[in-house]
Amino acid sequence: MKRKPVVAGNWKMNLLAREVAAYAEALAAAGPATTVDIVLFPTPVYLDGAARAMPTWVSVGAQDVHAEEKGAYTGDVAAAQARDAGATWALAGHSERRQCHGESSAEVARKAERALAAGMTPVVCVGETIEQREQGETEAVLDDQLAPALAVLDTADAGAGAGAGAVLAYEPVWAIGTGLSASPEVAAAVHSHLRGALNAHRAGLGDAARILYGGSVGAENCRDLLSRPDIDGFLIGGASLDPASFLRIIRLSAGSGSGAAAP
Ligand code: PGA
Repeated sequence: MKRKPVVAGNWKMNLLAREVAAYAEALAAAGPATTVDIVLFPTPVYLDGAARAMPTWVSVGAQDVHAEEKGAYTGDVAAAQARDAGATWALAGHSERRQCHGESSAEVARKAERALAAGMTPVVCVGETIEQREQGETEAVLDDQLAPALAVLDTADAGAGAGAGAVLAYEPVWAIGTGLSASPEVAAAVHSHLRGALNAHRAGLGDAARILYGGSVGAENCRDLLSRPDIDGFLIGGASLDPASFLRIIRLSAGSGSGAAAP
C-alpha cells in the first residue's frame, strides 16, 4: 500500500516573526504541493502567526504540548491552546524533549493523547542513542519507547477521517543535527521493524501508519530514503530553516511532474 508522504519541518528554537512571514511568502509563491502533506513546527509564540500566514496546503504543528489538560504549569502549552492557535499537528517525544526535559515514554504517550483529544495529529518520535545502537539495543529501546504510545496511535488511525491518521517518526539521536544521516538501508530496517510492531499491536495498523525518518535529511539524501517502501516522509530540522532548501526537499519528495511546489 502506498501512503501519502509527509514532509515536515521542525524549526526548533529558530526564526523570528519576520522570517516566518517571509517563509510563508516563499511557500505561497512556489506552491501548491498536492502529492505530499507539508507540516511546519514553529516555536509556540509563532503558532498563531504561522498558521495565519501559511498557504492552505501547509499545516502548522506544535513542537510539544503538555501532558495535562490545563493548570499551573508555568511556561508550558496545553494541547487545546496549541490547537486554538492554529496547530493541527503536534510532535510528542522529540529526543530533545526526552533529553533536555526528561520526558519518559509514558509521558510522551500522554502528550500524544492530549494532542489527539484536542483535534491534532500527534507525531510520536522514537530513536536510539549511538551507545544503544553500538550495544545492539536499538530494537529493544524503540520497542520500549513505542509501547505506551501504541494505543494512541491505534486511536489516531481509527479516527483517520478527522486527523491525518497514525504518524510515527524514527529519529536516531546520533543522526540529529550531526550531518550523519542513517543510511537508507539502516533507516529502512528500523522502519520495517517499527511497522511490524504496529501490526503486531493490531493487524493493519502498521500498514496504515506513516513512519517518518528524521536525522540530517537534506536534498542530497531525501530521494534515496523515500524510495524505500517503509519510509513515508521526513521530519527535518536544519534543512527546513531555509525555505529554498525545504522546497527542494518537497519537490524531490513529491516527484517530478506531480504538480508539486517548485523551488
Ligand atoms: P536535523 O534534525 O534534520 O537537523 O538532523 C531533525 C530533527 O530533530 O527533527
